[in-house]
Amino acid sequence: MEKLVITGPTSLKGEVEISGAKNAAVAILPATLLINGVCTIENLPDISDVKIYCEILESLGAKITWQDKHTITVDSRNITSTTAPLDITRKFRASYYLIGSLLGRCGRAEVGLPGGCNLGPRPIDQHIKGFEALGATVNVSSGNIVASCNGLKGTSIYMDIVSVGATLNVILASVLAEGTTIIDNPAKEPHVVDLANFLNTMGADIRGAGTDIIKINGVKELKGGTTYSVVPDQIEAGTFMLAAIATKGDILVKNCITKHLESLTAKILEIGGNVDSNGDHVRVWWDKPTTKATIKTLPYPGFPTDLQPQMGVCLALSKGTSIINESIWDSRFQYTYELNKMGANITSKGQSAFFEGVDKLYGAPVYASDLRAGAALIIAGIAAEGKTEIYNLNHIDRGYEDIEGKFRKLGANIERVKEED
Ligand code: EPU
Repeated sequence: MEKLVITGPTSLKGEVEISGAKNAAVAILPATLLINGVCTIENLPDISDVKIYCEILESLGAKITWQDKHTITVDSRNITSTTAPLDITRKFRASYYLIGSLLGRCGRAEVGLPGGCNLGPRPIDQHIKGFEALGATVNVSSGNIVASCNGLKGTSIYMDIVSVGATLNVILASVLAEGTTIIDNPAKEPHVVDLANFLNTMGADIRGAGTDIIKINGVKELKGGTTYSVVPDQIEAGTFMLAAIATKGDILVKNCITKHLESLTAKILEIGGNVDSNGDHVRVWWDKPTTKATIKTLPYPGFPTDLQPQMGVCLALSKGTSIINESIWDSRFQYTYELNKMGANITSKGQSAFFEGVDKLYGAPVYASDLRAGAALIIAGIAAEGKTEIYNLNHIDRGYEDIEGKFRKLGANIERVKEED
């Protein structure tokens, strides 16, 4: 078992380069199955979710060649199976994008159905509603989801709730469908736009991604033959912006799209932090004690749930009583119990958490309950006095490239240590 050992406090200072976006990469990789040709994808983050996805694609017949640790060439001319490895896909939520891709390309998909997770229940009713509207039959049995069709036909689909996954899955399924598909009330996250841009580069006809209506004119074939670079990760960028504030530091976050960070920038300014945004880089620095705020997580362009725990660390250290209302996930306050072990004063009740600001946090052994909780605990450990040990690193490694290396370069005293089980 590995753990991260952090000795603090350190005020983080310096520059950090942001990697490609995890949540765009895990949609673009299955999208390569729609291409009857070869394509190259650059700026993939070097994380375990990407490696697992590549293994799944290879098991379905795609040929993957690694050019370097961030670039692959995928040859999807021969798809040999429509059943994804069920044991892997059952544990790996983003595998549900294989349903849209395989249905669109091959007319059949079988994938292990992901269950609930540490964030609470994760239903996929909107994905299924979309596939059925396009003409597929969907059956769920023995923990697997099997979707099949005799050709998909474009139609109008209204999403009852704004769902990133359902929006992406319906785009994937409809790219090769006959006629036009309209998605009303779609998610507008940057990775929705990135998937549409990738598919359009490969020959699709998708319009309106990032707006209230997405229109997909089905095409006969995606030919590939070109290169695409994954968008920078706005959540990784936001994680370092918040680390600058929580550790009383000064960080230049490079290779990000500051437009994607507007809701976070507004909240950092509101609590008294400083932000200087400049297109593809942003400097964030602390020069005075921060103050309380009230935050509600919302779909993009609202405040992202995936930055809620990292913001929680800043509010735990800000003067006054702050409130966070988590409107996307049922169980995203588990990190607050760990922060309380470090001296924070946070009470969570249902979808809300109340932060009574404290002056200092103190190092303690803590457990990452999910990816973003893990990032929040690293920030807390760097800000805290003394030694923090963080366990359950598998969550963190799923989604952050070389996180301890990047924090170490900013001055953090952080080491990955192997521990006997
Ligand atoms: N929902 C339904 N029915 C559905 C789909 C979603 O009720 O068919 C509900 C969910 O239970 C949730 C809300 O709708 O309450 C939003 O879920 P969404 O489908 O938007 O989330 P997702 O696609 O499963 C992605 C990210 C998450 C991120 C959310 C919200 C990926 C691989 N995952 O999940 O990222 O929190 O959007 O922005 O893109 C993370 O990166 O740490 C992470 C959890």
